[in-house]
Amino acid sequence: MINQSEQFLSLSVFTIAWLVLLSSYKVNSSSEKEVKALLKWKNSLPSQSLLDSWVLPDQVRNNTNSSLQTPCKWYGISCNEEGNVTGINLAHTGLRGTLQNLDFSSFPNLLRLDLKENRLTGVIPAAIGMASNLQYLDLSTNSLNGSLPLSLANLTMVYELAVSRNQITGILDPRLFPDGTSSSRTGLKSLKRLLCQKTQLGGRIPNEIGNLKSLVLLALDENYFHGPIPPSLANLSELSVLRVPVNQLSGKIPENFSTLRKLSDLRLFINQLSGFVPSQLGNLSSLTVLHLA
Ligand SMILES: *[C@@H]1O[C@H](CO)[C@@H](O)[C@H](O)[C@H]1NC(C)=O
Ligand SMILES: *[C@@H]1O[C@H](CO)[C@@H](O)[C@H](O)[C@H]1NC(C)=O
Ligand SMILES: *[C@@H]1O[C@H](CO)[C@@H](O)[C@H](O)[C@H]1NC(C)=O
Ligand SMILES: *[C@@H]1O[C@H](CO)[C@@H](O)[C@H](O)[C@H]1NC(C)=O
Ligand SMILES: *[C@@H]1O[C@H](CO)[C@@H](O)[C@H](O)[C@H]1NC(C)=O
Ligand SMILES: *[C@@H]1O[C@H](CO)[C@@H](O)[C@H](O)[C@H]1NC(C)=O
Ligand SMILES: *[C@@H]1O[C@H](CO)[C@@H](O)[C@H](O)[C@H]1NC(C)=O
Ligand SMILES: *[C@@H]1O[C@H](CO)[C@@H](O)[C@H](O)[C@H]1NC(C)=O
Ligand SMILES: *[C@@H]1O[C@H](CO)[C@@H](O)[C@H](O)[C@H]1NC(C)=O
Repeated sequence: MINQSEQFLSLSVFTIAWLVLLSSYKVNSSSEKEVKALLKWKNSLPSQSLLDSWVLPDQVRNNTNSSLQTPCKWYGISCNEEGNVTGINLAHTGLRGTLQNLDFSSFPNLLRLDLKENRLTGVIPAAIGMASNLQYLDLSTNSLNGSLPLSLANLTMVYELAVSRNQITGILDPRLFPDGTSSSRTGLKSLKRLLCQKTQLGGRIPNEIGNLKSLVLLALDENYFHGPIPPSLANLSELSVLRVPVNQLSGKIPENFSTLRKLSDLRLFINQLSGFVPSQLGNLSSLTVLHLA
């Protein structure tokens, strides 16, 4: 009993001390929100030295270095001129833990989240949809599981979404993409590059993917997609790279792919496609890779 209350007491003292530190940390409020969110995430992760610089200035022995007054000098954090956090770049760092306690709503100015090639586990939290100004999201090469949250449809500014080499299951939900009307408010409508290689995604490739008007690269290699190659892809006038090899796609190669004037790399190998190779492909003057094995 005594031990327990002592533990409780020291825990409370610690918490209060921490709160006092936090409140004495004089930066403007939106930056304070970001600092709190980053520290909360850090504290939820296994202890790892790469985040050693993520500390409040008061925790630094001699608080004389004014460059430590914002999170902007913390490892992997970048800011705009106003001191708002605009980037979290911890790619290739061996980062361990989950995204569960990263409060995405605390980063209204976050443009870039790059966590590729790490050791993250758990799911992609639905709260990621709150980072509504995000432009670049790379979670490739981790051990993330679960399905792609529908809230990703909120990220209408994202031009690159990469989740390759994770254990992501489920489907590419049509609601992730714009509905094709000009009034479509949600959907990943700014996407230029969509990379979902070597995941465990399956189902059909939704026809709505043809509404991603700016799409330049679509890479869905080595998944469990079945059904036809959506003919709507022929509508993507900027499409340069189309890779859907090693899936279970069936049906014909759409003839009107010949309208894809910028197509340079078409890989359809190891699927269950049938029929002829459309002669119209011969008209694709930009094509440099055609892999149909
Ligand atoms: C901190 O400041 C004190 C004097 O204010 C100085 O003696 C000490 O060396 C400083 N420590 C560090 C780590 O800079
Ligand atoms: C303040 O800290 C930054 C980042 O750790 C470092 O680059 C810089 O040299 C330091 N400046 C002084 C005056 O110690
Ligand atoms: C907020 O902080 C930034 C840099 O840390 C500063 O340039 C800006 O003037 C501050 N804004 C307010 C309202 O204090
Ligand atoms: C951060 O961005 C908000 C608007 O989202 C703005 O009000 C604030 O002044 C900016 N600056 C800092 C340092 O938070
Ligand atoms: C989408 O973003 C807005 C803020 O721009 C937020 O209020 C809303 O909760 C987000 N929706 C989802 C599903 O994340
Ligand atoms: C995801 O992986 C974790 C272990 O890292 C496991 O506990 C959890 O059940 C998995 N969730 C799903 C949806 O597969
Ligand atoms: C291609 O776009 C046109 C015009 O936006 C639309 O009418 C047509 O249905 C689209 N084709 C497919 C297969 O989605
Ligand atoms: C391509 O052909 C399909 C039918 O094969 C049709 O539905 C679609 O509208 C065509 N798209 C374009 C852009 O011509
Ligand atoms: C290829 O393009 C030429 C000129 O643009 C056109 O006359 C011809 O019909 C096209 N051939 C195919 C197979 O689409």
